[in-house]
Amino acid sequence: MSSSARILMCPPDFFEVSYVINPWMENQVSQASAHVAHTQWKALRNILAEHAHIDQIAPAEGLPDMVFTANAGVVLGNVFVPSRFRHAERQGEEALFAKWFAEHGYEVREIDPEIAFEGAGDALLDRGQPRLWMGYGHRSDEASVKAVGNLLNIETVGLKLADPRFYHLDTCFCPLANGHIMYVPSAFDEASRQRIRDLARPGSLIEVEPHDAERFACNAVSIGEVVVLNAASEELQSALENAGLSVKTTPMDEFMKSGGAAKCLTLRLDEPVVAPRP
Ligand code: ARG
Repeated sequence: MSSSARILMCPPDFFEVSYVINPWMENQVSQASAHVAHTQWKALRNILAEHAHIDQIAPAEGLPDMVFTANAGVVLGNVFVPSRFRHAERQGEEALFAKWFAEHGYEVREIDPEIAFEGAGDALLDRGQPRLWMGYGHRSDEASVKAVGNLLNIETVGLKLADPRFYHLDTCFCPLANGHIMYVPSAFDEASRQRIRDLARPGSLIEVEPHDAERFACNAVSIGEVVVLNAASEELQSALENAGLSVKTTPMDEFMKSGGAAKCLTLRLDEPVVAPRP
């Protein structure tokens, strides 16, 4: 382990596709193999364990998507803001995640229960400055942008998601070391695309082409200079390497049947509080 990063994962003991709440899940009900999912999950965990400490939460029967811990909530310093899932199918996860965070010493700050908010699936910290990029429009409500900013006392930037296949921000946008960001321009509405271009440091944006986007390249776990993802074309791989990053790939297709890949299966537990710029 080369850094002090801490990540929460949930073993896929009860993972399956048993309902459809995103386009990737269509025609996939009962099609995911428990065996392959376990193998892929363990391979991911083993790679991440070289760079981070992995904490595990116990899975629960009947909550197949609990494996996607990115959606537990969002963490900043010692504060945890739990998700309020849009779909009833995932709402049973809320109490289990809240309990884990309370038991592990986090201060739990609740968002207004009327506001849908799907945690770090839609709330990504910039890695170069104190800023939380927030996706809305499919799962999280636009109102979550302001509400989460207030609860965590951090600048939030709302980005409207425009393509139903990229229904969580972490499927089409990924903050990387030193303020680099890879993203799928077509996944956002025009105003949000412009906002990304205006706010990102010049030269720090990496545009991800459809063939990489569809293989969940943006759903990458970024730990320091290391980026772990399902797959990357040679072109994307070189763009990431030119940005000073080291790329590791590991197959995630069993989880893609549920609309998730590497990053969704993780939640960073040690996001530092960085002082806002004066
Ligand atoms: N089947 C899950 C859902 O639709 C997948 C969640 C993927 N999570 C993510 N952070 N992108 O809710």
